[in-house]
Amino acid sequence: MFGRDLSCLVVVGAQWGDEGKGKLVDVLAEQSDLVVRYQGGANAGHTVVVGSAQFVLRLIPSGILNPPAICILGNGVVLDPVALFEELDALAARGVSTEGRLLVSDRAHLVLPYHKLLDAAGERQQNIGTTGRGIGPTYEDKYGRRGFRVADLRDLGEAARLLAERVAGANERIALSGMTERASLDEHVTLLERMAPRLLPLASDTGAVIHRALKEGRRVLLEGAQGSLLDVDHGTYPYVTSSNTTAGGAAVGSGIGPTMIDGVLGVVKAYTTRVGNGPLPTLADPPLEEELRNVGGEFGSVTGRPRRCGWFDASVVRYAARVNGLTALAVTKLDVLDGFDSIPVGTGYTLDGGTCTEMPAEVKVLERVRPVYETLRGWKAPTGGVRALSDLPGAARAYLDRLQELAGVPIRYVSVGTRRDQIISL
Ligand code: IMP
Repeated sequence: MFGRDLSCLVVVGAQWGDEGKGKLVDVLAEQSDLVVRYQGGANAGHTVVVGSAQFVLRLIPSGILNPPAICILGNGVVLDPVALFEELDALAARGVSTEGRLLVSDRAHLVLPYHKLLDAAGERQQNIGTTGRGIGPTYEDKYGRRGFRVADLRDLGEAARLLAERVAGANERIALSGMTERASLDEHVTLLERMAPRLLPLASDTGAVIHRALKEGRRVLLEGAQGSLLDVDHGTYPYVTSSNTTAGGAAVGSGIGPTMIDGVLGVVKAYTTRVGNGPLPTLADPPLEEELRNVGGEFGSVTGRPRRCGWFDASVVRYAARVNGLTALAVTKLDVLDGFDSIPVGTGYTLDGGTCTEMPAEVKVLERVRPVYETLRGWKAPTGGVRALSDLPGAARAYLDRLQELAGVPIRYVSVGTRRDQIISL
């Protein structure tokens, strides 16, 4: 993907998350000098398979498995220090050296234990089906101007005063939900005193680091988490995450200007999945849904929840192409469809008997649309060993051609398995 005219690339999910971005980032990280997460937090679960080892990265960019790439948690990320150090220790225990390879923005907001209590309190009222990692409440505090940033740790006396205010405020909100549990100030102070000496040496103005790298002609990969339909502005609100997962969020959340971004790669599964609540128009009928879930291993990599499974939905991907300005597509998990006789593809929606060409703003309306399906022939042959487009069965090539045509974006990569080498570059 990278080339003379392309030194800053964004990778986004173009469905409801879990599209396989981790693998694509891992592959592209080989050509990158910096890999940057720009939004979300430990709600993500990016699975990367290296040789026979499987890594699930929640917070740290997937580029960490690709030395010498430097990894950055940008200002738009919500950073759970406990999750971060657990992840760093787990990587070290498996022989992955992260020494000097991870920087965090001093503007990033911290996810603290009281945010997780607030997340549980919120779920009692709203039932979004969140990951429970405190993501929404941390962003609420950020935009409510009552957050707690990495930079606040530089003055521990002032941090303790701030924490007293924040914990008291959180406890008031938790009490309103009827929950009996409360956040403990002492626990928070102790936690931050313990984390600060480890976190602060990693902290800097990472926007300046990225800017400098681009000016020096280095290659920067901006790694999105979750998917476009979970974007707080463009997703199926309120069944969304609390950040801008789309490409616009990449500039804001990494601290560079949008003019520095050269391309946006949208990652899509060859079918569609969704975890958590909210509409999924192309949901498959039970026996086939079960088959997709089992063959595709469609269980949340962080929460273990079964994902709902359905067919490729071109309306979703066309919409994602527009809101992200996608310049290329990566289609993942093509091999999951190897055993199907025929494969439905959602080409559009009807609503109350008419066509529905735009993504509706209201989930109530999206719940009522009916997908229009076109049925494509299956290829009934294994594709996991294929490395060139010309070696794919004809029906698999026809399937990809149709997806590309419906999405209106050229396919650049096709992934045919979990391993790094199971990829076809076009
Ligand atoms: P939150 O991000 O934990 O607040 O969860 C909000 C919604 O986003 C829920 O439906 C989650 O299941 C979904 N979600 C959050 N992170 C991911 C992810 O990495 N993959 C897929 N869905 C996610």
